[in-house]
Parts: sequence; structure tokens; C-alpha cells
Amino acid sequence: MAAAGRESVPLPAQKDSGLRQFNFSVTDRSSLSLIEHLAMKKILITGASGYLAHRLVPIAANYGAVTGVARDRRSVYAPADGISLDITDASAVQRVMDHVQPDALIHAAAVNPGSGDSLMDAVNHQAAGVIAQQCRQRGTRLVLVSTDMVHTGLCAPYLDDAAADPINLYGASKASGEALALSICPEAAVVRTSLIYGLDKIDRGTAGFQQRLLAGDPLSLFSDVLRQPVWVDSLATALCRLAVECTEESGLLNVAGDEVLSRAQFATILLQFWGTKVTGNVRFISGDGITGLPQDLRLVCTRANQLGIDLPGVNAVLAR
Ligand SMILES: NC(=O)c1ccc[n+]([C@@H]2O[C@H](COP(=O)([O-])OP(=O)(O)OC[C@H]3O[C@@H](n4cnc5c(N)ncnc54)[C@H](OP(=O)(O)O)[C@@H]3O)[C@@H](O)[C@H]2O)c1
Repeated sequence: MAAAGRESVPLPAQKDSGLRQFNFSVTDRSSLSLIEHLAMKKILITGASGYLAHRLVPIAANYGAVTGVARDRRSVYAPADGISLDITDASAVQRVMDHVQPDALIHAAAVNPGSGDSLMDAVNHQAAGVIAQQCRQRGTRLVLVSTDMVHTGLCAPYLDDAAADPINLYGASKASGEALALSICPEAAVVRTSLIYGLDKIDRGTAGFQQRLLAGDPLSLFSDVLRQPVWVDSLATALCRLAVECTEESGLLNVAGDEVLSRAQFATILLQFWGTKVTGNVRFISGDGITGLPQDLRLVCTRANQLGIDLPGVNAVLAR
């Protein structure tokens, strides 16, 4: 008979080192940490060197063992294990999936507006299909990061399942990527989000405005272009929860901060936060009628709210 507090448990096959079972004690620290390790989900993150990843990777490490991919593994954020991967290379994607065998994959890699039509199509659209195919074949949970830019900006506020109707090439490539991924892997969760910002690392948009102001260049900010900027920590937590905890959630869902701000308000607040004076060099202009610029991208986050995902607005985050 086993001693009190001791019992035998089978080891998972892929971790098999010749032992089929072992004895552990619930009071033995090393036994407990081994059990925790075996129970840990393996999470693979693409785009693990990007802006979102600077918080997504460390937050994901609270949910599982994280491997991150980027074209150069040295740029992958800690504490992920980094692997070099170009996600447009389908056979390389397969090799990485064979090697990591993730339980969940958070697909955050993308190229940004202005990256060129064919590159945006290859990365934001076609590669999303390759990744979805791999996840489908293996039963890997897929969470794909998309954008509010899949909308025209003419029919806000947008519900979770609002049909995509993009008006620029970036939005079109992301909309094609989400549609392709969901057609292959309908169990996937596709998260549409807004401008991402954090308080520990300046985001690209604000950094660009800051550079202009510091150089003494004029800066024009849209006073009637509406967004719901999302705090990088909220978004990262939402993605991890969807990847590991809320695995029954499939299809489209909006994840955005609960405060609507104009592009100008958002820029002004963040420039002040980063210590840059918004001077007379700044003009506030209308975005109305600018080709390819969706004006109103307010998102209704019904599903995220139902899941209890915390989505504070910019002023609430600053007040924390
Ligand atoms: N930033 C925003 O405000 C915003 C708003 C809405 C939605 N999103 C979405 O959120 C996600 C993350 O955005 P982000 O701002 O963190 O992006 P980011 O900073 O531009 O980083 C992009 C990431 O994608 C990777 N990547 C690009 N092409 C690749 C390729 N061919 N193979 C492998 N990796 C590749 C980059 O890795 P390398 O090191 O290899 O370049 C990098 O890690 C994206 O899906 C984006 O569409 C972002």
C-alpha cells in the first residue's frame, strides 16, 4: 500500500525517459515542480520580437512554457525559447510545429501598413493559412491577432462578428488572413484589436510623433478619427486566456480598450506621458474623405466582456 500523501502517476508519452511511473510526495517541492512542469501547456508565439510581444511573451510565461518565433531568434523576447522562422516558408513552419508540438499557438506576426502589397499578402494572408492548417492537423489551439482595420469605418460601432469590408491594403490582407484561417480552422479564435500601447515601452505611432516634434517638424493629428486603444497588458492577457483557458471560444471577437478617443486625443495623452510637449507645431485636422483611412473604428467587445476580460481605457490605465 502507498504511504499517505504518495501515489503513482503515469508520465506523458512524449516525456518518456524510460520510466513509466514514479512515486511522488505532495509535500516534496521537487516532485511538485515536476508535476507542474508536466501539466504546463506549450505555447508557441509568432511575432515574438514585435511590440505586442514585449508584454505577450512574459505574460504568456505565466500560462505555460513559451517558445517564440521571429526571423532572427535573437530578437525574440525573454523568457521565451527563441527559434528563427520565416512564416512564409510553409515547410519551415511545419518543422517548427513538429519540434515544438505546441498545445496553443498565438499568431501575432504581421507586416504593417505600407509594407508592400505582395509582402502583406504573403505574411498577413497566406501565412495565416499555413499556420491554421498546421493547427488544424494537430489539434493545436489557434488564437490569431487581427485588427479593427478590416472595417470601412463607416458603420461603427462594430459588433464582434461584423463582416470585414476593408478599404486599404493592410486591412484587406488581414481580413483575408482571418477568413482563410477560420475557413481551415473554424475552432480558432480571431481577435480584432485597436491601437496597441504600453507604458513601459513607447509604441511605434507615438514614437513617430515624438520624433517629428523633437526634430521641430510640423505634426498633423486627426481630431475626428476614432479608435479604442488597447493596453498591451490587457490584450496580452486576453490572448493568453483565449489560448489556454477559454479554449471553447471560436470565431471573431473584439478586444479593445473601453474608452473611445480621437487619434489626436490619444496622441496628446501619450506624448505627455512620454514627456514630450505638444507644441504649436501641432495641427488638429479632419480625417474625413482621406482615401484608405477608416474614420470611426469603435468596437463593441461583447464576447470579451462576457469572458470577464479587463479592458480599461487609456485614462484608466494611466490612473492605475
Ligand atoms: N500595433 C498595433 O497598434 C496593432 C493594432 C491592431 C492590430 N495589430 C496586430 O497585432 C499583431 C502584433 O502587432 P505588433 O505591433 O506587435 O507588430 P510588430 O511590432 O510590427 O511586429 C511584427 C512581428 O511579426 C514578425 N514577422 C513579420 N514578418 C515575418 C515573417 N515573414 N516571418 C516571421 N515573423 C515575421 C516580426 O518579426 P521579425 O523580427 O522577423 O521582423 C515581428 O515579431 C499583428 O498581427 C498586428 O496586425 C497591431
